[in-house]
Amino acid sequence: MMVKAKVFIYNKEFDGLPKEGDLIIKEEDLPPLKDGEYLAEAVYLSVDPYMRAYAPSIPLGSVYIGSQIAKILESKNSDYPVGRYVVGYFGWRSHTVHDGRTPEAPANFPAPFLIPDLGDVPLSYFLSILGMPGNTAYFGFLEICQPKKGETVVVSGAAGAVGNIVGQIAKIKGCKVIGIAGSEEKGKWLVDELGFDHFINYKTDDLDETLSQVAPKGVDCYFDNVGGETTATVIQHMNEYGRISLCGSVSSYNKKDRSVRIPLFLLVAKQIKAEGFLFYRWVDRSLEGVQQNLKWLQEGKLKYRETVTEGFGNTFKAFVEMLEGKNVGKAVVKV
Ligand SMILES: NC(=O)c1ccc[n+]([C@@H]2O[C@H](COP(=O)([O-])OP(=O)(O)OC[C@H]3O[C@@H](n4cnc5c(N)ncnc54)[C@H](OP(=O)(O)O)[C@@H]3O)[C@@H](O)[C@H]2O)c1
Repeated sequence: MMVKAKVFIYNKEFDGLPKEGDLIIKEEDLPPLKDGEYLAEAVYLSVDPYMRAYAPSIPLGSVYIGSQIAKILESKNSDYPVGRYVVGYFGWRSHTVHDGRTPEAPANFPAPFLIPDLGDVPLSYFLSILGMPGNTAYFGFLEICQPKKGETVVVSGAAGAVGNIVGQIAKIKGCKVIGIAGSEEKGKWLVDELGFDHFINYKTDDLDETLSQVAPKGVDCYFDNVGGETTATVIQHMNEYGRISLCGSVSSYNKKDRSVRIPLFLLVAKQIKAEGFLFYRWVDRSLEGVQQNLKWLQEGKLKYRETVTEGFGNTFKAFVEMLEGKNVGKAVVKV
């Protein structure tokens, strides 16, 4: 089968928030399959903050980085049968010829994963709660923060793909949970539907003052998705032997200067552990994370929400809107 793929090419270096023209769509003729290869068609594309964070290391002229769920249309690889769906870091492309091995970029990202048939579980969940963001929340929070019942947990980026799961897992573990995010609509969802104890709008509330009110006994665990001033302020409220899971710093991704003044001496004085991580540290245990999140989902202990944009051509729009905070839950594109 002769197939033309549509691909997004990194055309112009991002300067601040990505702009129209920074990525351009091109058509590419795909070669016929060789032994060991399969052809897959994108069904859902993921748009994630790391795609902006990694931009300085992406060569201009290359297909933009990203993961997707794709349906296998043709195969000369018995491990990837026709009709099955695969999660792969193929980049922003409509069609892909792949050999099933680990992609080259970003370094160390997982090899394509064949999606099991789970009946009525939405396919797109394998890019979110049953995929990378789900495992980021599960391992990044439980392994690094080691939360204990009754402790106070703060989550920044709380209404996004990773943050809302962290907060819900913290509730499952019996913690008091405070979510920080950027709109009242998000806050309402976190408190009314997901059971967070408190919400703080970092755009309109005084974070320092509100934290004193809602966490009078201090903060034991902080799951940090945003970095910057938010993190500097939360650290002031942390208790002795607090734990900080450094997951991301989305507040800095659109900036050239990503440095922020963090009060490091407070970490010393309060004997706080702050540890950065990348989700693939636990790649060997990824099934454990997926299975546990699925179980909690089926038991109704985890709820989930996605913001879906329709159309391959709207992937760039979905990406920018996610960086602007227009998504609630995971931002995905339905092709
Ligand atoms: N370490 C890892 O392995 C790993 C894996 C996955 C994700 N991450 C990181 O986890 C974080 C969340 O990722 P996600 O996929 O769950 O994305 P997400 O939270 O679904 O989407 C990004 C969110 O960032 C918030 N944001 C944008 N600009 C901001 C700013 N200046 N200050 C504060 N918040 C801002 C927006 O929400 P608001 O309305 O609240 O502003 C937006 O919805 C990111 O930092 C990402 O890089 C790390």
